[in-house]
Formats: sequence, C-alpha cells, structure tokens
Amino acid sequence: MTGIRTFGKELSRLPEQLPPELRGPDWVQANPVLIQEHLDRALAMPTGGWFAIDASSAITGAPRPYRVAGHELVVWRVEGALRVAPDACPHMGARLSDGHVREGRLVCPWHGLELADGKHGAWCPFEAHDDGVLAWVRLPEEGEHPTARPILSERPAVFLDSVMRMEASCEPRDVIANRLDPWHGVHYHPHTFKRLRVIGIREDRLVVRVVYGMSDRVGIEVDATFHCPDPRTITMTIVDGEGTGSVVETHATPLGAGRTAILEATLATSERTGFRRALKAAWMIRPFILKAQRRLWVEDAAYAERTYELRQSADRTSSPRIP
Ligand code: FES
Ligand SMILES: [Fe+2]
Repeated sequence: MTGIRTFGKELSRLPEQLPPELRGPDWVQANPVLIQEHLDRALAMPTGGWFAIDASSAITGAPRPYRVAGHELVVWRVEGALRVAPDACPHMGARLSDGHVREGRLVCPWHGLELADGKHGAWCPFEAHDDGVLAWVRLPEEGEHPTARPILSERPAVFLDSVMRMEASCEPRDVIANRLDPWHGVHYHPHTFKRLRVIGIREDRLVVRVVYGMSDRVGIEVDATFHCPDPRTITMTIVDGEGTGSVVETHATPLGAGRTAILEATLATSERTGFRRALKAAWMIRPFILKAQRRLWVEDAAYAERTYELRQSADRTSSPRIP
C-alpha cells in the first residue's frame, strides 16, 4: 500500500539489493519449505514440560476448571500463590472446580473433603508457576526433561501487559506455523498491516519491517523478529523503532485432540517519558490492545484451522504443501 505516512524513530536503511529469497511477490517469498524448516526447528526444542494455562490475572481464589493436554485441571490461588491439581476429588470424583476454598484448603462440593497442598491418595497437585503475566502448569510429558521454570523469551523490564485467550480447532503447531508466515500480514489483515516486508531470514528467526496502521494514512514502522523459544511459543520482539524491546508472546496450549488454546501476551514498553504515566492508565488502554489482538486472532485462528484441516485431510492429491 502506498501513501501511508509513518512517524517515530527512523529505521536503518535497508541494503539496495536484498538476497534473492527476499525478493519477488509475497506468495513467492512465502516458501512452504522454508516455513516447514523453521517449524521443524521449533518442534525439536524442549518444553521443560510446561504449558501456559491463562493470564495470571484470570486466576483468583475461586477454583476454575481448565483442560490442558487432555488433563482436567482445577486452578486456584491460596494467599496469592497459584495452585493446579487434577479436577477430580480423590473420594468419589466430584469436580473440585465446583468447590470452594476455605482457610487455604480446597473443599469438595459433594462431601466436604478438604484438600491442602500435599498429596491425598492418588490425588496430587502439579507443579505450577506464575510469571506475573501468565499462569503455567508442568505436566508429565513424554520425552521431556522437566525444568524448574517455563522457558521464556526475554521480556522488557517495565511493561504494560495484556493477555488474550481464544480456542481453535487445530494443533499447537498450526498456531506456530501461522506466525512463521509473516508474508500473509498485508494481504490477510489489511486493516492492521499497511506494509510488511521480511528483511532477514536467520537460522532461528525471521526479521520483518512492518507498518502498523493507526489509520488509513498514518502508521508506525518498526523492525521485529519472530523466534520460537519452545515448540509451543512464538515471540515477536520489536528490535528497532517505536517500542523497541516490546514483545508479543503467542503460546499455543493443547487442550485435547484437535483443540488448542491460543494465549497471546503483549508486553509493551517504550522509552518515551509519557510511558510511566500510561502504565497508570493501563486499565484504560488494555481493552484497546485486547480488541486489536482478538481481531487478528479471529482471522489467524481460521488460518490455523484451515492448515489443520488440510493436514488431516485424507485426500492430499490437490493439497498444497502444508507445514
Ligand atoms: S466426592 Fe469429594 S468428598 Fe466425596
Ligand atoms: Fe496473521
């Protein structure tokens, strides 16, 4: 799109001639073999057994049910500390997420069994972690060496965060593959991306120069990288321009067969003097960030579902190459 005015910090000049793989129309550059290679690299990374459950702020003292990787879980807090356990009472199987917390104990709704932090028969809480933005659980995972903490990308020291959660009929790899294809941005989300070029392809990351539209005529231009710190996460980091150091973490958590939760955490930062003031008004700004995130993910979830559908399809005769 031409005729868009950008503001903010001026970015470094690009070389006159980009390498051959970064020339040509987007549909030529968006090479399925290349996307597959990046996806394979991500899928081979360790997870430490950790799964993102939801925004930290979504978990309170009231027990809530979640499904993660086929496990029915109850998630709650005791004096601020995150707790995650199987959602079936060890007595006769009642849903503990229908219970309540009394004096730090989870109380079963059927016969009042009180469960503390430790084991009760076969019932045993899972390892949980709250990183201040997201709530995590560590589950036994085949072939994984458990780590003490989730494997996170670097985050800014000071940030305004918002977390969007949505579910889609696909697998986590479809969500990651969608993000490993930045070339669709301008074509598929013209309301948000006014210009987008992939300007670097490294072994472990893609580098893009993108203009986010503020209106039809004005936008903010930044350079950003996409990389996967683990097989179920892809992180976009602004590396030059307005908001350098801001990250958008997209976590894909398997729920059960063919169903995935997309958790997108935006951690926005800025060196501008007004940013600290903006943090105080986070409650006012957050709904706008969430609305923009959701709008993009409604479309990207459809993309991921389409990829999943094609991969599932028995008739591959006319199918394109799907990561
Ligand atoms: S089912 Fe929980 S106490 Fe009986
Ligand atoms: Fe997209």
